[in-house]
Amino acid sequence: MFPFGVDYYPEHWPEERWPRDARLMHEARINVVRLAEFAWSRLEPEEGRFDFDWLDRAIDVLAGHGIRVILGTPTASMPPWLASKHPDVFMTLQDGKRRTYGNRRNYCPTSETYRLYSRRITQAMAEHYADNPHVIGWQTDNELGGQTGGCYCEACREDFGRWLQERYGSLDKLNEQWGAVFWSHVYNTWSEIPAPLESGSSPNPGLALDWKRFASDAYVDFQQEQIDILRELSPQKFITHNLMGFRFDQLNYFDLAEPLDFVGYDIYVRMQWTIENEVDPSLAALGHDTMRGLKRQNHWVIEQQSGSGGWEIVSVAPRPGELRLWAYQSIAHGADGIIFFRWRTARWGTEQYWHGVLDHHGEPGRRYSEIQQMGHEIHVLGDLIQGSEVRAEVAILHHYDTRWAFQIQQNNPSFSYAEHVKQIYRGFYRQNVPVDVVHPATELSGFKIVVAPALYVLPGEVADNLQQYVQGGGTLLITARSGVKDEANAVVEQPLPGLLAPIAGVAVEEYDSLPSWKSNGLAFEAPGLEGETLESAIWADVLTPTTAEVVARYTREYYAGRPAITLNHAGAGRVLYAGTLAGSELFTRLARWLLELASIEPLLETPHGVEATARWKNGRRLLFLLNHNESSATVTLDHDYRNLLREGAVVSGNVSLAPYEVMILQ
Ligand code: GLA
Ligand code: ZN
Repeated sequence: MFPFGVDYYPEHWPEERWPRDARLMHEARINVVRLAEFAWSRLEPEEGRFDFDWLDRAIDVLAGHGIRVILGTPTASMPPWLASKHPDVFMTLQDGKRRTYGNRRNYCPTSETYRLYSRRITQAMAEHYADNPHVIGWQTDNELGGQTGGCYCEACREDFGRWLQERYGSLDKLNEQWGAVFWSHVYNTWSEIPAPLESGSSPNPGLALDWKRFASDAYVDFQQEQIDILRELSPQKFITHNLMGFRFDQLNYFDLAEPLDFVGYDIYVRMQWTIENEVDPSLAALGHDTMRGLKRQNHWVIEQQSGSGGWEIVSVAPRPGELRLWAYQSIAHGADGIIFFRWRTARWGTEQYWHGVLDHHGEPGRRYSEIQQMGHEIHVLGDLIQGSEVRAEVAILHHYDTRWAFQIQQNNPSFSYAEHVKQIYRGFYRQNVPVDVVHPATELSGFKIVVAPALYVLPGEVADNLQQYVQGGGTLLITARSGVKDEANAVVEQPLPGLLAPIAGVAVEEYDSLPSWKSNGLAFEAPGLEGETLESAIWADVLTPTTAEVVARYTREYYAGRPAITLNHAGAGRVLYAGTLAGSELFTRLARWLLELASIEPLLETPHGVEATARWKNGRRLLFLLNHNESSATVTLDHDYRNLLREGAVVSGNVSLAPYEVMILQ
């Protein structure tokens, strides 16, 4: 059964209401709910006194309608008794101020005290629900790492010292790799090493990157403690966590996902923070492809938008059809479960305006009908979809060390690693070419094209991996600021792109960091592109080819006429080096060129705003067409299909998609 559900907070509503909620859910074909991830003060009202009765009763009511349950460990928001007894559990922000009670996600992940309480509630829940047949799985905590910049307290600093000791073994090695001699920062003891507090000003980049790794590990360890307990005491149930896609950049999500059975994803396509912006469906698509890439396996959506978002500001209302469209987009990108956040809009609390399937008043309305429609559709089609896989011939490498190193040193004030990746991703997305977003050390031979955007921190094993991929016949695109740093965040000794120079067949002779009001022209001369001109921005590597051919040259500044983009043949493969970091048309154009070079066919050509994706099962393909436009759009099909959302009606030739319409074609 395809998991289709809602996040539900029975503790927000009188118990007399629960049966009606369960009945309405059932009538929308909801078969799973997530519960309890913010219910600590109801589950452990006082230290050591656990109360599961109410939750048992809620689960029974839901089970009476065939609805199964995922339970969240409630550690993302601590109860007041814990906070007042142990003020040291609060996180300290980078400015040195300790957080205080009143919100959530405010604990220090290394705090021994907090970890003790977190293990205790996890253990009590695991024991109590291990044999409950209606509880099918666990969610650890909630959006680990979110809403803050991490903890900088003294306990964390001490832990950082231990972490460094493990990583470097000796202070001599640490001092050498960080180049601590610069400004005389040579450390004699581990305890001298500071946290990169604001009061310390711009830190040593080596220290700063290790701190980010350490801070990520702290959450990974925190989660692991819960997972160990759940695996031991409740081995029959799956464990997941709700992550935040490509958007969130504080934790190494590859590490966080590793011990999970599958990745959960919270996707809000239209947030209240971006009320002025148009929805950009490519960002949701990138989020899904990133989540699917963490374990190279299908994921679930644990929170799918069910209404306007809102804390202080209320976001634009989802247009009729959008919620369903977005949920199908999740499925089209590999989601094997959809859970809407949330069932009913809360009357209280910070998220009063984060709208659920039902409004505050609790009566079914437009959004309920839309989700009910989808529930019925999924009831029919779910088995066909579930377990089918997205197949991508293009991979984009996502590297957290690099992302963090750019947070530490932006290089150019207009540069954002995330924006750079998005721009490259869109180049493929717009042409309906599926993409996997994967770890740089992953096996790449299955991909026809690999893109390594600005791979700034380049571990030797990643360089080897890329070299092997190219030698074996792969097509690799790398961009400026690749291979600049070693793993200690020191600049490498060889000419750029460092360890990638041999396969790129090029050396960066010098570079120019461009102000936001300047760009440079590119004149193309490679076959297939000759005569074209485009603008590039942010960064200009001036290239000296060793074995590479010139693809494009700059047209302005003192380096006019010098190579900007090159193509090198290495082994059975080739490397395209783009010595620039932006250009709104540039990466779309380069993607199209690479697709031709690597003989990759788009799934289908579609008009602007209509997305095509596919999932495969048993050699059969499901083609998803998603019209993100508020107007109808016409798509020309490549042959006859059956439209599974219209009882298998045959469609062919030019088909019109209504605003926000979805087609699943077989
Ligand atoms: C996140 C959280 C939820 C809720 C929603 C809406 O994804 O996991 O608890 O806060 O956002 O803000
Ligand atoms: Zn701390």
